[in-house]
Amino acid sequence: MKILGIETSCDETAAAVVEDGVRILSNQIASQVEIHARYGGIVPEVASRQHILAIIPTIEQAMAKAETTWSDLAGIAVTNGPGLVGSLLVGVNAAKAISLAHRLPITGVNHLEGHIYASWLGNHSIHFPLVCLIVSGGHSDLVLMRGHGDYVVLGRTRDDASGEAFDKAARILGLGYPGGPAIEQAARNGTASIQLPRAWLKGTSDFSFSGVKTALLRLVEAGKIALSANQSDELPTRADAAASFQEAVIDVLVTKAVAAAKERRVKQILLVGGVASNELLRKRLAENSSIPVLVPEPVLCTDNAAMIAACGYYHFQAGRVDGLDLDVVASLRLA
Ligand code: KG4
Ligand code: ZN
Repeated sequence: MKILGIETSCDETAAAVVEDGVRILSNQIASQVEIHARYGGIVPEVASRQHILAIIPTIEQAMAKAETTWSDLAGIAVTNGPGLVGSLLVGVNAAKAISLAHRLPITGVNHLEGHIYASWLGNHSIHFPLVCLIVSGGHSDLVLMRGHGDYVVLGRTRDDASGEAFDKAARILGLGYPGGPAIEQAARNGTASIQLPRAWLKGTSDFSFSGVKTALLRLVEAGKIALSANQSDELPTRADAAASFQEAVIDVLVTKAVAAAKERRVKQILLVGGVASNELLRKRLAENSSIPVLVPEPVLCTDNAAMIAACGYYHFQAGRVDGLDLDVVASLRLA
């Protein structure tokens, strides 16, 4: 059963063909990163316009690469939220047009649910119940999954998402956009010598990352981090600050995910979303958890359409088909 996945919720125009929810036949991504980097972050209007330019060629490439014809497809899965409305609309309308022209069923996929289903790609053995730590630019959620499509949100961020915190910290340190990979790269040349605060929010599975970001900002404002060559050799460097920030965020994510998984006595932990491509986070979670951890390969952690197609397969199996009235929902929730 081949599904065409379409993803345009943020700044990547993506299309993929996935067979039986596990085998990737193609996975095309047209990234807008270079365009948004000029502005230091995503400009929604620019993102929508870029999606319009890229959507048809990206879908055509995905179909060609998968050597798939329209009649080979069983359906189309498209992200309909959460995300930027203008961006989501481009993918959803493309899916509707194809659905109408080729008489294919469509199913709307929650972007976060898509991130979770990246774990199924490659045919890994996955056992319920499990806990998912979803860490992306817009979300930091701990979710209990009891079966396909069965979610209980255990906790979420009360302010910044972890990816957003990485992006803001990178801006504070003058490391550019996107911040996650920039911080990870810079941290390789530093040591986590600065003790930054961690918000534990004890007794909950919620997160808060605005405090650690503000603490970093205060240190920079007070001239306590050497951001230019003529500052004192005694001060911690930009690389040390990046390493300390990364350490603080990962410490909280790992500790809280492991605690939630133990408390719920689950069989597995899934680590998903753009921040899950961070090598240190992957390593730390695996080292600190007695419960098996599964993390998709980095390219399947950041936004892609293969994960949307994988999720769509399970929607179709469960009879979850949408009509041409499928709408986009900017703040669509899981569960
Ligand atoms: O899942 P994603 O591609 O898009 C959203 O759904 O938001 O996640 C993007 C986020 C960005 O905030 C980016 O800085 C972060 O993931 N990210 C990383 C890394 N790669 C991407 N954060 C930390 N380390 C990384 N290597
Ligand atoms: Zn995402």
